[in-house]
Amino acid sequence: MRTNTGQIIHLEDYRPTDFVLERVDLTFELDPKETKVEARLILHRREGVDASAPLVLDGDELVMTGLLLDQEELAAALYDVTDDTLTIRGLPETAPFEVTITTMLSPETNTKLMGLYRTNSVYCTQCEAEGFRRITYFPDRPDVLAVYTVNIIADKKSAPLLLSNGNYLGGADMGDGRHFAAWFDPHLKPSYLFALVAGDLGVVEDTFTTMSGREVALKIYVEHGKEPRAAYAMDALKRSMKWDEETFGREYDLDIFMIVAVSDFNMGAMENKGLNVFNDKYVLADPETATDADYANIEAIIAHEYFHNWTGNRITCRDWFQLCLKEGLTVYRDHEFSADMRSRAVKRIAEVRHLKSEQFPEDAGPLAHPVRPTKYREINNFYTTTVYEKGSEVTRMIATLLGRDLFKKGMDLYFERHDGQAVTIEDFVACFADVSGRNLSQFSLWYHQAGTPLVTASGAYDAGKQTFTLSLEQTVPPTPGQSAKEPMYIPLRMGLLLGNGAEADLSSVAGADITGDVLHLTQRKQTVVFSGITSRPVPSFNRGFSAPINLHIEQTDDDLALIARHESDLFARWQALNAIALANLVSATANARAGKSVTCEKALLDGLVAAAADDGLEPAFRSQALSLPSEADIAREIGADNDPDAIHTARQQILKAIAVSGRGTFLRLADEMASTSSFSPDAESAGRRALRNAALTYLVHGEDDPKRAAEVFAAADNMTDLSHALALLAHRFPDAPETAQALATFRKRFADNALVIDKWFAVQATIPGAGTLNRVKALMTEPLFNGNNPNRVRSLVGSYAFANPTGFNRADGEGYRFLAKQILDIDPRNPQLAARILTSMRSWRSLEDTRADHARNALKEIAGATKLSADVSDIVERMLK
Ligand code: ARG
Ligand code: ZN
Repeated sequence: MRTNTGQIIHLEDYRPTDFVLERVDLTFELDPKETKVEARLILHRREGVDASAPLVLDGDELVMTGLLLDQEELAAALYDVTDDTLTIRGLPETAPFEVTITTMLSPETNTKLMGLYRTNSVYCTQCEAEGFRRITYFPDRPDVLAVYTVNIIADKKSAPLLLSNGNYLGGADMGDGRHFAAWFDPHLKPSYLFALVAGDLGVVEDTFTTMSGREVALKIYVEHGKEPRAAYAMDALKRSMKWDEETFGREYDLDIFMIVAVSDFNMGAMENKGLNVFNDKYVLADPETATDADYANIEAIIAHEYFHNWTGNRITCRDWFQLCLKEGLTVYRDHEFSADMRSRAVKRIAEVRHLKSEQFPEDAGPLAHPVRPTKYREINNFYTTTVYEKGSEVTRMIATLLGRDLFKKGMDLYFERHDGQAVTIEDFVACFADVSGRNLSQFSLWYHQAGTPLVTASGAYDAGKQTFTLSLEQTVPPTPGQSAKEPMYIPLRMGLLLGNGAEADLSSVAGADITGDVLHLTQRKQTVVFSGITSRPVPSFNRGFSAPINLHIEQTDDDLALIARHESDLFARWQALNAIALANLVSATANARAGKSVTCEKALLDGLVAAAADDGLEPAFRSQALSLPSEADIAREIGADNDPDAIHTARQQILKAIAVSGRGTFLRLADEMASTSSFSPDAESAGRRALRNAALTYLVHGEDDPKRAAEVFAAADNMTDLSHALALLAHRFPDAPETAQALATFRKRFADNALVIDKWFAVQATIPGAGTLNRVKALMTEPLFNGNNPNRVRSLVGSYAFANPTGFNRADGEGYRFLAKQILDIDPRNPQLAARILTSMRSWRSLEDTRADHARNALKEIAGATKLSADVSDIVERMLK
C-alpha cells in the first residue's frame, strides 16, 4: 500500500519554531481557476536559535510562482521546495526580514474542501487544522500567532461581497470590472483561524450591545432568498453573546461578527475570528423545513462557534495534541448554554444518550485514544467524539469536583493568565489546581488514559448496626497502545433512597470522601461504610451522569423502579428506566437468537407507561422515558458476538408488547399532545411534539395497518411531525403503497431544498433489513443525489452505514463491500469525508464471526488499494491492527 504521508507526529517532539512571525499581509486576486495569492511574512529569528538554522514553511499541493526576500528575488541556491515544505537558508541573524511568496490556486477544482475552495459559486476557506498551507507556504501550526491584513480583489459582479477576519478597513472599485476590499484583524491569531469569503450572498443584519456598551454589527450571510430561514440562527447568536457575558464574563471584542452559511462543508462549522463559516444545515431553519432537532442543533452550534472566540481564539492550542483544550471546553460551554435555554434534565439525558452511542463505542474499539492523544498520523482523524464529548465530560467533572464558585474562579484565572497565548491542557488544569489548592494529578488521568472505566458496586445493609457498606471497584479496559491503567479519580454523585421516598444522610461515612452528594472514588478498590442508615436503602449512582463510566451493579427491577419513581434527580430516574429496559432487551435478544419467544417484563411495561402517563412530568422528559435503547445501545451492552438481526427482532417485539399494554395511554397522549396553536420552536412545544410522536411510534407498532401513520403524514404542518410520520411509514411498512406515496409526495414538495431531501435520503437509507442496500444503490443514481456534496453523501451512505444495523450488517457482507467501494470512490476527491464515513465500521470486532470475517475482508480490500489518502489509510490500519 502507498500513502501520501506516513509520518507519525509525537507530542514529546514538540518544540517552538526557530522564527517568530510578526505580521502577515495577504493579497488575493480571486479567480475560479487561477487565483493569485501574495503572502508577505515579516519574521525574525528567535533569540538563541543558531544563525545557520533555515526557515522551514509548510505547504500542501501548492504551485509557487514567486519568492522574494526583502523585496529581492531569492537565488535558487538559497531555497528548496518539496511536496510539503519550502526551506529558505541564509537569513539574517537577528534583524527582521520579509518573505514574499506568490502562489497560484484553483479553488474550483479543490474538492477536498480544505484551503480555498468554491461552493455554489462562493469562494470560501477552511483552514483548521492544516488547510492554510494549501493557500501559501506558512508556519502552519497553532502556536504561531500573528496580526493579519487581508486584501481581496475579485470580479465585482460575481463577487460583490468580500469578507475576511477582523474589521473592515475600506475598499474601492478597480475600474476594470473588479473591486477590492481590505480587512485588518488586530487580534493575534494562528493560521487555522484565517478565513476569506467572496461571492454574491443575501444578508440578515442585527446588532448587539455588549456589557460595556459597545455596539457590534451582526451579519448572517446566506444564499439569496433564504434570508428568512436565518432568523432563528440570529436569535440564537444574540442569546449566546448575552449568555457568555452573564455566565463567564466574556465580552465580544470586534466591531462586527459575521456568519456565512455554505452548502459544501466537511464538518459542522468553523470559528474563524469574526467570520464563522457554517455548514448551511446548521444555520437555515423554518417550521416547514426544520425539525425540532434541527433547531436545537442550530442553537448549540451557533453558540459553540461563538464561544470559541474566547475558548479557542483568544486562548488557543499550543499544538494539535491539545485540541481538547478548545473543543472539550467549548462543548462543555455549549452544553451548559443549551441546558440554560431548555430543560436541564432533558438536555442531560440527550447528551448522555449521544455520548454512549457515539463515544463509548469509539473508546471500546480499535480507534480508542486519550482525550489528549500523544501521537497522530492525520490530525483530521482526531476531531472525534472522544476529544469533543469526552473532553466536555472531563471539564464537567472539574466543575463537579470544585463546585460552582471555584470552577468559576478557575475559569477567570484561565482567561486572565493565558489571554493571547497558545497553551496546553496542563496550563488549563493548573488554573483549577491553583484556585482550589487541590492536587489534580490523578484527576488528569482522564486526559491521558483512554477507555471507559468500569465501576462495579455492591451494597450490604446491616440492620443491627444501621450501616450500609458499599464495595466499589474500578477497572479501565486496555486500549490500543495502553495495556496497563492506573485507577482514576471518579466523582460519583449518589444518593441512598429509603423506601418512603426519603433520602439517607450521607455525612456519616468512612472509607471515602463525600462532598455534598459526590463520592470521591480514587482507589482501585474502595469499601465505603455509611452509618446511621435506619432502613435498607436503594443506592442510586451517577446522578446527572457525573462521570463518563460504565456502572455494573446488581439491582432488582423493584429497586430500579423505586429510583425511577422517587429520585430527586430526573436524570437518574431516566437512567433507572433505561437500565430496566436494557436488561430486558439483552435477555430478549438472547431468546430471539435461540429461536425462543421474547417476553417483556412487567417492570418495564409498568415503568414506561407510568412515566408516560405522569402529567406532573414535563412532556420532553416523558418522551425520553418512552424512547427505548437503540439497537446500537443493545449491541454495545452485549459487547461481543453480536447478531444485529436478533437484536432487531427482540427490540421490535418488546416495542410491540409495550404498544399493546400501553395503548390507552398512547391514544390519550397522541390526542392531548396534538398542537392547538401555531408552530413555535421553543423547548416546551418541542417537548409536546416529541411526546406525541413517541406515543404515535408505539401506536403504529401495535397496528398492522399504515393508515394511522399515513393520516399523520397528511395532516402534519411542520417538519418534525412530517418527517417522523414518514419514518414510521418507511420503517414499519416499507413496502406499503402508502409509503411509496408519502415518499413521492415528500420528494416532490421539497425537491428544491437539498437539506430537506437529505432527510428523505436518510429515512430510506435506514429502513431495516437486507433489502435496503438495493434502495441505497438506486438512490445514488437519483438526480437529487450529488456524490460531491458532503451533506448528501453523509445522509445517504453515512446514514446507511452508521444508523442501519440490520441493513448495513447484512449476513452476506454485501453492506461492507458496498461501503468499501464507496470509500475508495470518495477518497481521491475528499479524504476527510471518506475517513469519517469509514469509522462507521469501528465496532466490527464485536460482531459474530461470519459478519466479522466479511467486515475484515472489506477493510483489507480498502487497505490494499493502490493509492490511499493519509486520512483513510490511518483509519483502516488502526481498525485492522
Ligand atoms: N473547530 C471546528 C469546531 O468548531 C471544527 C473544525 C474541524 N475541521 C476539520 N477539518 N477537521 O468544532
Ligand atoms: Zn469546536
